[in-house]
Amino acid sequence: MSSFTMQLKEIQPSQLYISEVKLKKVRTFVEDVDPRSFDPIPIKRIGDTTFFTDGHTKALALLEQGVEEIEVFWDEDDLDWLQYLICVSWCEEAKIRTIADLQNRVVDHSTYRRLWHKRCDTMQKEAEEGHYQGVHTPRIMDPEEKSRITELVLRALPAWFGIEEALQSYVRGVADTKFFAVQVGNRPVGFISILEHNEFTSEIYCMGIYEEVHRRGLGKELLRAAEACLRQEKKKFFTVKTLGDSHPDPGYRQTRQFYRSRGFFPLEESKEIWAGTPCLIMVKPLD
Ligand SMILES: CC(C)(COP(=O)(O)OP(=O)(O)OC[C@H]1O[C@@H](n2cnc3c(N)ncnc32)[C@H](O)[C@@H]1OP(=O)(O)O)[C@@H](O)C(=O)NCCC(=O)NCCS
Repeated sequence: MSSFTMQLKEIQPSQLYISEVKLKKVRTFVEDVDPRSFDPIPIKRIGDTTFFTDGHTKALALLEQGVEEIEVFWDEDDLDWLQYLICVSWCEEAKIRTIADLQNRVVDHSTYRRLWHKRCDTMQKEAEEGHYQGVHTPRIMDPEEKSRITELVLRALPAWFGIEEALQSYVRGVADTKFFAVQVGNRPVGFISILEHNEFTSEIYCMGIYEEVHRRGLGKELLRAAEACLRQEKKKFFTVKTLGDSHPDPGYRQTRQFYRSRGFFPLEESKEIWAGTPCLIMVKPLD
């Protein structure tokens, strides 16, 4: 684990309250010890957000001591990042942007348990049943917003979109397409962009979701929103071009598994469409 320093004000909390009793304990410790000798605090970056995964009380105690820069490390544990993003969205809703915003949210321990633990328990229970609080799939109309979301998500998926020129082309290209984002609160975590070919057929131009929240049903949600809209328009076919089976890339093998599981069938593989790279055309009947 290698640590580095970061400005406290640049780190988004993922917790709504601080327990007073815990803070008192940490305060005594902080007052007696050189703040630089503290163990680093774990943080995570998803998209454009860097948030605490733990150590909120310690960070607040350090802030009270006038510390502005703290030692941190990237949390590499395999945690439930969708649940963390939900907590971050609660903080954003409550206008908690930095650790300083938690200063007036120090509550006695039983209130802490009632307000924070209970809320987290409920969210966890709902998540186990496949319902994620605040997750929704709005249609995005603003061309600049479409490009912004696309760039954020694709840059976080270098194993799929590692060629800069292609990435830039998608960022520009999505502006004129039908576009749905999947958001946790106000924060996009993925998108689907759709091209209209003719009155019968639309194509997935591009699609992506942050890797930390793959396999949580968000891709399925995006397709559901997109297909509902296409069915309303009486479209018959939904197509997609993706890397073909004859290419060994493991990421795209998973992508094909996703499309297959959602009712897309392989039509044909061609090396002519993408200048030598195998392009698999898949189709899903919408009736
Ligand atoms: C492809 C992608 C959008 C799928 O989104 P997702 O949210 O991870 O997919 P979901 O959780 O909705 O998966 C739905 C179903 O697809 C199948 N599936 C998805 N990922 C899979 C994988 N890695 N392996 C096997 N099956 C998979 C499963 O049947 C899954 O249902 P289950 O989890 O109940 O078994 C996402 O993985 C992604 O962003 N990939 C990288 C970018 C990309 O490939 N874009 C498309 C370019 S053409």
